[in-house]
Amino acid sequence: MKAVEIKKGIYWVGAIDYNLRSFHGYTTPRGTTYNAYLVIDEKTALIDTVKAPFSRELLTRISSVINPEKIDYLIANHVEMDHSGSASAVVEQAGDIEVICTAKGKEFLHGHYHDSKEWDIRTVGSEDTLRLGKRTLSFIPAPMLHWPDTMFTYSASARVLFSNDGFGQHIATPRRFCDEAEDWNVFSEAQKYYANILMPYSRMAAKKLDELKDVAVEVVCPSHGVIFREKEDINRIVSLYKSWAAGESKEKAVLVYDTMYNSTEKMARTIEEGLLIEGIDTRIFNLRVSDISDIMSEILDAKAVVVGSSTLNNGPMPSIGGFLTYLKGLRPRGKIGAAFGSYGWGGGAIKAITGELEATGFELPVEGFQTKFVPRSDALDESFELGVQLANHIKMR
Ligand code: FEO
Repeated sequence: MKAVEIKKGIYWVGAIDYNLRSFHGYTTPRGTTYNAYLVIDEKTALIDTVKAPFSRELLTRISSVINPEKIDYLIANHVEMDHSGSASAVVEQAGDIEVICTAKGKEFLHGHYHDSKEWDIRTVGSEDTLRLGKRTLSFIPAPMLHWPDTMFTYSASARVLFSNDGFGQHIATPRRFCDEAEDWNVFSEAQKYYANILMPYSRMAAKKLDELKDVAVEVVCPSHGVIFREKEDINRIVSLYKSWAAGESKEKAVLVYDTMYNSTEKMARTIEEGLLIEGIDTRIFNLRVSDISDIMSEILDAKAVVVGSSTLNNGPMPSIGGFLTYLKGLRPRGKIGAAFGSYGWGGGAIKAITGELEATGFELPVEGFQTKFVPRSDALDESFELGVQLANHIKMR
C-alpha cells in the first residue's frame, strides 16, 4: 500500500473501502474511498484521516513516504467519522502533533473522541494560515457543506483545493484521478452524492462556489472518490455543482409509487404514458424494488415528482411515508408535484401525500387523483390525462 503523489510534495494516503454498501442509508454499490492527503515541506501536515477500521491502511501509506512520527499537524476539515475516525491513531503515533480545525470542529472532536481534551488543538478561520516552509496552507470555512464544522484547505503555491465532502463521489477504485476513471461513473456518482448529502444546503453551496470563483485551482482533492486534475474535468464538476446549487431542472418527471394489488401500479404506468407522449423525460420507480438514494439522484434535476400509493390503514404505504420523510429532509427547491393512488373504502393516502408534498415546498398544479379498488378504463383515462396535464405544466416552467 503506497502513497500516490498528486503534486510535488503532496500525496494521497487514504483508504479504499470496496465493501461499503450503505453510508447511513445512502446505498453505495460501488463502495467508496476515504481520502487523506499528506503535505510535506519543512513541516508536514496530514489533511483528514480515514474511517477507523482503515487506520492501518492510512498509516501504511503514510509510512511509504514519511515516518508518521514526523507529522506536525493534523488538519481536520470535517469531523464526521469517515474522515476523523483515525485521528486518535494518528495523534497516538505522531506524539507531538497539533490538530487544526474550526471552532465547531473542536467542539465536535470533543463530542466524538473523549481523549481529544488532551490534544493540542488550534482553531482556525478564514484569516488564518499555516506555514509549513515554502508552502503555506490557508483555510476556507464552509459551514453546512455539509456539517457546521466543515472547512476546505487550500495550497495557493500548488493551486490545490482540499474540498472534503464537496465534489465527492462514492466510488472505490484503485484509480486516483478522474481522467483515469470511467467518465459516466464519476459524474453520475457525483450527482448522487450532491442529491443525498448536499442538496439541503444548496444556497450555501452556491455562495461558496461564487466565493471560490477567482481562486486559482489546478487540482481538486475531495475526501471521497477520484481527484480532479484536468481543466476540462474541473470545469465540468464545477459547472454541474453550480447548476445543482441553483436548483436548475430539466423537462423531466420522476414517478414514485408503491402498490398493494397493482391498481396503483396500473395508474402509475398510465400517468407515465401521458408524460412520455408529451415528450417529458420520465423515470418511474416502484419503491418495493428501488432505492431512495438513487431516486433522489434523479429528482435533483427533475422539474416534477409524482407520488402514488395504495391506501393502507387510512394512509400511504410505509415505504411512501419513509420516502416522503427523506424527500422533505433533502429540501428540493422549485419543483412541482402530484399525488395519485387507489383505495378500498375510507381512502387517506392521497390526502397524506398531498400534505407532505406541500410541506416539502412543492407546488401542486394538478389535483391529486384516486380510484376505488381496481381502476376501470375511465380511471385509466383520467390517469393518462393527469400525466398530460402535468407535462404541460412542466413545459410552461
Ligand atoms: Fe464524508 Fe460528511 O463525511
